[in-house]
Amino acid sequence: MNPTYLIVETRSEPNIALIRLNRPKELNALNLELMAELRDTLKQLDQDDEVRAIVITGDDRAFAAGADIRQMSGKGAVDMLLIDQFSTWDTIKKIKKPLIAAVSGFALGGGNELVMHCDLVVASETAQFGQPEIKLGVIPGAGGTQRLTRQVGKVRAMEMMLTGEFISAHQALTWGLVNKVVPVELYLEEALNMARQLARQSPLAIRLAKEAVLKAHDTHLAEGLEFERKNFYLLFAGQDQKEGMQAFIEKRPPNFIGR
Ligand code: CAA
Repeated sequence: MNPTYLIVETRSEPNIALIRLNRPKELNALNLELMAELRDTLKQLDQDDEVRAIVITGDDRAFAAGADIRQMSGKGAVDMLLIDQFSTWDTIKKIKKPLIAAVSGFALGGGNELVMHCDLVVASETAQFGQPEIKLGVIPGAGGTQRLTRQVGKVRAMEMMLTGEFISAHQALTWGLVNKVVPVELYLEEALNMARQLARQSPLAIRLAKEAVLKAHDTHLAEGLEFERKNFYLLFAGQDQKEGMQAFIEKRPPNFIGR
């Protein structure tokens, strides 16, 4: 496998794999192709006995600025149902090895949802987290409404999802979205340090600990996720999604009409 939108390093250090999201010009926006590569890479690494911890990162400017708005903007609800773009996330959700996010810059929309699919999170002081989908006339679709609410609580989740405003790395630390905040020069090294620490533990114990923690976290999640996904796709039947995404592309404020 030779991915186009990822840089995968598995051999530079024993037992640790590093995946870099690599669409820097688009702030690592998660297009369908990148997500398919990420799914396949994670699946492969999950089956590789040599790998004991996986670090996912972007670059200093952006971890990932969300799903690719250009790719989605013209789609209808039926297209969205048929493409079912969030089905790739079902594989990511099931990865058994520990995932560590090393986040700098923007982690927005699907970017923040990818962070929340990771088990540990190291943020640089410059990181910003947000679920700005509301500004596009849609809602989070890769688990954000359910996972963010469980992680930060109702009113904070409401604030992030209803206003679309970003929060700083330090706020994310206070709210329980990240484990550590470090200077920008150190975020990747700190994440790799965490990976080294995990790689020294029993892979089986790590696997079962992860599974058990997720069990606590995920009870009743499946129904919520299904609900969220249908609602996300449904929004593509309306005019506000078209307007919101078109306005983003044309770099102008959107004019939402509620239809
Ligand atoms: N999709 C596609 N392209 C994107 C993108 C996205 N999510 N985010 C940024 N880009 C592109 C921009 O269009 C721009 O491309 P051009 O240079 O060709 O114009 C390039 O990346 C750089 O972005 P900006 O010029 O906008 O950079 P900025 O520093 O002025 O602003 C930003 C940065 C605040 C992150 C802004 O780009 C932004 O608001 N991006 C969109 C964030 C967003 O709404 N994410 C949610 C997407 S929907 C989603 O994720 C659904 C889900 O649940 C999975």
